[in-house]
Amino acid sequence: MTREQEAAGSGTVAVHDPVVVSGPAAAEADPRPVLVVGASGKTGRAVSRALMARGVPVRAGVRPGREGAAPAGATSVPLDLVTGSGLEEALSGARAAYHMAPNVHPDEVMMARRVAEAASAVGLPHLVFHSVLHPEDARMPHHLHKGDAEAVLAQEFSGSLVVLRPCAYHQNVLPQVLAGEVVLPYSADSPFTTVDLDDVAEAAAVVLLDPSRGGEVHDLCGPEVLSTRRMVEVAAEVLGRPVALRETTVDAWRNGPGAGLPAEARDVLAAMFTAYDEDGLVGDPAPLTALLGRSPTPWAETLRRTLPSS
Ligand SMILES: NC(=O)c1ccc[n+]([C@@H]2O[C@H](COP(=O)([O-])OP(=O)(O)OC[C@H]3O[C@@H](n4cnc5c(N)ncnc54)[C@H](OP(=O)(O)O)[C@@H]3O)[C@@H](O)[C@H]2O)c1
Repeated sequence: MTREQEAAGSGTVAVHDPVVVSGPAAAEADPRPVLVVGASGKTGRAVSRALMARGVPVRAGVRPGREGAAPAGATSVPLDLVTGSGLEEALSGARAAYHMAPNVHPDEVMMARRVAEAASAVGLPHLVFHSVLHPEDARMPHHLHKGDAEAVLAQEFSGSLVVLRPCAYHQNVLPQVLAGEVVLPYSADSPFTTVDLDDVAEAAAVVLLDPSRGGEVHDLCGPEVLSTRRMVEVAAEVLGRPVALRETTVDAWRNGPGAGLPAEARDVLAAMFTAYDEDGLVGDPAPLTALLGRSPTPWAETLRRTLPSS
């Protein structure tokens, strides 16, 4: 759908998820779209899907030239978080916006400033920021960047702001599990409360569609504390086939899978793996439970969804 079609109300919203949610969170009363920044990425797609499943028109914020990568059914709008180009146009007339920075991007704090300034300039009423669990953890520079981005948004954005702080997703380890081998540059026994990305997206839709929620901060964590070793055991049980697990070192990762990354991103991820080796990443599932009105999805259920339906 083009921006012109959106304006004319002539586009049909194709919904990936067949479940259409009704009730107080439904969008019928407000025809204005929600802007999802990074809509061509893993998280942005999931958030866009969750909004469209509620009948909400989605403006997919994508990099110029990437309009074709917008989720089906969304209206693509070009914007560049590095230069700020397109931001005001993309935000103008939206009922709310979901902001996230690209993974481990060194300019994350300035990106937040550009979004806050553009959103305030066009009078955006409501903004939700996709942060990370434990943004104060100084061992991980990209967590600190997210903490600083939260502060900039709180200071510079004139509308209502909600911050979501997700743990690592179930979906991060899923591709390796499905491929039959998980390789880890940190201890397989470190504990995690990984969270299902679809639960994160559902929580995002809940807070995006409720502008009265300004000022809230929510950790988004899964319902179980599991080591990767246990996640692999559960995966083998649910999938009915062996899944191998191999620990490697951070140095081996730097010289192997990490070798092709920009040096700064490599250092940031290496620092993250070292922190994971020490403590994993663990938080409280209660805030996500409250937002969803149900217990968050366990790891085994995420796996079951990948099985062919009988
Ligand atoms: N994965 C996790 O477990 C986890 C947990 C907590 C928080 N997070 C955070 O979630 C955020 C998104 O992660 P993700 O895994 O969904 O990332 P992703 O799949 O790599 O998506 C990143 C998105 O940002 C877009 N982008 C890149 N440069 C841009 C620019 N200059 N202007 C506008 N858009 C740009 C990408 O567009 P293209 O498609 O054109 O590249 C893509 O749509 C990150 O900030 C990450 O730290 C992730």
